[in-house]
Amino acid sequence: MPTMSHAPWWKSGVIYQIYLRSFQDSNGDGIGDVQGIIQRLDYLKWLGIDAVWVTPFYPSPMADFGYDVSDHTNIDPIFGTLADVDRLIQCLHDSNLKILVDFVAAHTSDQHPWFIESRSSPSNPKQDWYIWKDPTPEGGLPNNWIGRFDGLSAWEWEPKREQYYLHSFLKEQPDINWRSNGAKQAMLDVLHFWLQRGIDGIRVDAAYRALKDPQFRDNPVNPDWHPGMEPSDRLFEVFSKNIPEIHDYNRMLRSLVEKYDGDRLLMAELYKSLEEIVKHYGANDEFHLPLNSELMSSDCQWNAEYVREVVDRYERLLPEGAWPNWSLSNHDKHRVASRIGIAQARIGMMLLLTLRGTPTIYYGEELGMEDAWIPSEHIQDPWEIKAPGIGVGRDTERTPMLWDNSPHAGFCPESVPPWLPITYDYSHLHVKAQQQDSRSFLSLTRALLRLRRQHSVLQLGDYIALYSPSQLFCYRRFNENSELIIALNFSSEYQEWVLPIEFRHQSTVLLSTFMDRHGGKLGDILELRGNEGLVIQRCSQSSDTD
Ligand code: NOJ
Repeated sequence: MPTMSHAPWWKSGVIYQIYLRSFQDSNGDGIGDVQGIIQRLDYLKWLGIDAVWVTPFYPSPMADFGYDVSDHTNIDPIFGTLADVDRLIQCLHDSNLKILVDFVAAHTSDQHPWFIESRSSPSNPKQDWYIWKDPTPEGGLPNNWIGRFDGLSAWEWEPKREQYYLHSFLKEQPDINWRSNGAKQAMLDVLHFWLQRGIDGIRVDAAYRALKDPQFRDNPVNPDWHPGMEPSDRLFEVFSKNIPEIHDYNRMLRSLVEKYDGDRLLMAELYKSLEEIVKHYGANDEFHLPLNSELMSSDCQWNAEYVREVVDRYERLLPEGAWPNWSLSNHDKHRVASRIGIAQARIGMMLLLTLRGTPTIYYGEELGMEDAWIPSEHIQDPWEIKAPGIGVGRDTERTPMLWDNSPHAGFCPESVPPWLPITYDYSHLHVKAQQQDSRSFLSLTRALLRLRRQHSVLQLGDYIALYSPSQLFCYRRFNENSELIIALNFSSEYQEWVLPIEFRHQSTVLLSTFMDRHGGKLGDILELRGNEGLVIQRCSQSSDTD
């Protein structure tokens, strides 16, 4: 009997990233929490996403807002309890939604009991759980490596051991030594803990930093570095991250995750070029989705030719059987609407939800939310504090979700200030207003999500770019039964495009980014208004049977 081919949920699904501190405060302290997500479950269901990725909820001194974990198998009281997380997992599953969590695996907090023990003496059971080095014979630093946030030495002196420890980020975030059997086993146990609790996958934080060069060689100096560039760009991080052995580590995580049923997803944070990203799929034995940050990079030029080149290069580079993925922003990158403008952000959303591959929507992106200006007295992000004024601060893209028109946008009670202020007029941007407007950004996002469900060709079909004028990016999504064309106008000018022959006089518009155009027969020429994107279908095809 022929077997039905099975596509795991994460290939057809859409992921929604929740920056926990900023989504919904349920207990009136101005900080988002786990119960807050549960309270907003109806919204998530209404929106039509398939999975949520929740940023770290573990106990943490919050030096890096949760990416400095002091206990991997518990919940910070700010965010709730373990019982709350169990309930969240249950509620999401009852609603047919998946949950992904962060696995912060390359470092811990300096307040983690493992580190407290490790730093206490040169000989203790956890003495090698972190990366300790003697000074050089001349009394100097072990090598020239520098921290990601401040560009200063990544080595911190510990008088109790008379040794340095390595921290790739803050000195409050010592790097774990994955070459220590004890540390490795403890971290793998953490992974089992969460997988057994029922999570559907993980995003491995700073995945390429888990292993370092065994000889700890100096990183090469970047001769082009100049003030104004990120401090850490002074060196090329050749020996401190993404070393060849990292693929063994990736494979180890993959084989652990595969021990569990239910298509658990292994994603990885890797801010790298596409050429590098694709290596982390391995031979279908490393990450399912090494996260692709190409369209959120500050180098990304938002024009049709550039974006098309990125998409085609990724498609070309993908190893056999590997599945693409796309995002436009996250909690470390500026919001897409601020980078490209609100009019083009609609094009961005249509692109994100119609390309081949798993999309991740960053909370608020479905509203067209923009970066907020943060007054200096409210700055929280350690990166902005360490390297002020050069645009690396991340508070801007982490401000509270906009639910309604009340003070603090329904994120927290009126009587308490949210942990980051909302410094712009959101009266027409919030969920409630946009739900009442059939042409709003939110209505567009929801319509695109619905379209993906109605047309499986958008979820799993093939992709090919079509020849088009330079201001347009047009592509076909197809399978043996069905075929759609997506035409995106990256300019603010009116554009015309001669439709492929088989679409002429027999195609119709399914959706416009303006939400005002649907149906009617198209002729030879497709007309697009400035900043308009269209999804087009051949008339002979039915909308819900492909
Ligand atoms: C990547 C996370 O996305 C970021 O927010 C964090 O600051 C660093 N890892 C360090 O953990």
